[in-house]
Amino acid sequence: MNQHGSGASAVEKSNKRDDVRRDDVMKDLDVITRDVPSALMPVVGGLTSRRKRVPYWYTYDTRGSEIYEEVATTSKTYLNWHKEHSVLQSHSDDIAAETTSPVILVELGSGASSKTRLILEAMLKRHGTLTFVPVDVSKEHIEEVGQQLERDYEGLTVEPFGGLYMEGIRHLSTRKEPKMLLFLGGSFGNVCIHEQVDMMKEVRAQLTAKDRFVLGLDMNMDRESLLEAYGQQWANNVLNNPIDRLNKDFDGDMDAAKFELVTEFIENPADGDTPSYVMGYWRSLSEHRVYFRKLGLNLDFQRGEKFFFTDGPNWSCKWSLHQIRRLAEKSGFALEDYWTNDAADYGVFCFAPAP
Ligand SMILES: C[S@@+](CC[C@H](N)C(=O)[O-])C[C@H]1O[C@@H](n2cnc3c(N)ncnc32)[C@H](O)[C@@H]1O
Repeated sequence: MNQHGSGASAVEKSNKRDDVRRDDVMKDLDVITRDVPSALMPVVGGLTSRRKRVPYWYTYDTRGSEIYEEVATTSKTYLNWHKEHSVLQSHSDDIAAETTSPVILVELGSGASSKTRLILEAMLKRHGTLTFVPVDVSKEHIEEVGQQLERDYEGLTVEPFGGLYMEGIRHLSTRKEPKMLLFLGGSFGNVCIHEQVDMMKEVRAQLTAKDRFVLGLDMNMDRESLLEAYGQQWANNVLNNPIDRLNKDFDGDMDAAKFELVTEFIENPADGDTPSYVMGYWRSLSEHRVYFRKLGLNLDFQRGEKFFFTDGPNWSCKWSLHQIRRLAEKSGFALEDYWTNDAADYGVFCFAPAP
């Protein structure tokens, strides 16, 4: 198994942007960053912003990834994992047929790659051999997953890339083989809503006419079921785990019990360009102070103050078909094909670079 790592200096463009959004940084906060690895600078940037936050990727290390997989596969109310699995079960052969041999299969935010197995099997059946490049910030996790996949599938070579999405795509840009990029689990909907079209354009710029970009997108608009799906069952993933990480990374005394996870649903017109979205944040239950010794940083919270674990206002976007078509048009793609579950509230969409 070949392995690639992004190293501490690699910071995704959007996170660099996050880091240098100085207008939003609280001026009176002096922070010691001497010993902070550059990959963690966006986290420091978020802590010291007026809109206090951590980048969404910070909720995912090996523990975060394992919690995600556990909730996503066993929950009675968060059904996206099973909905996407059912679409892939019916259509993996159709998806595999979208590219010609020899193809490199790239998966952005691959995590446990559990549903991806269906596509790996369809591609191996079609091509005999396959190179699979999982790209995920949770580096140790995907390296372990990659070793297991190689043991499970003859003809499969796994080249894990531990790093952020765009770093992985740029890393692959010199490869000559056609590529199929997968972005499953609705993870594109976690990208900041204001940066989604730019990200798509950046991806488009790295692709050739033979490449395909396949995205799993949530089309559920039912407020009640969404508020249940994104409820307290995620607290370990999006609240406790990142607070544990903050305390470890910056020697802090932040107490997860002083916050609660809050979820809202923001519905936008289905015939407009902006998707609807579930918003999630931590709300401080009391006025209190947190100290991060390594940064020399005191952080004061008011009662009711919000702390975001997402890059933008959105935790998870919900799309109409019109919005998906507009996303493709605005970023230089054409919607070539798509497949949905029976209820038509979850879909897998194949984008081809527009000429
Ligand atoms: C919601 S999980 C989806 C996992 C899997 N694709 C699925 O469908 O079940 C999101 C995954 O994306 C990864 N991730 C989140 N933000 C990332 C970023 N900016 N760059 C790279 N990986 C990221 C996380 O580590 C996690 O494995």
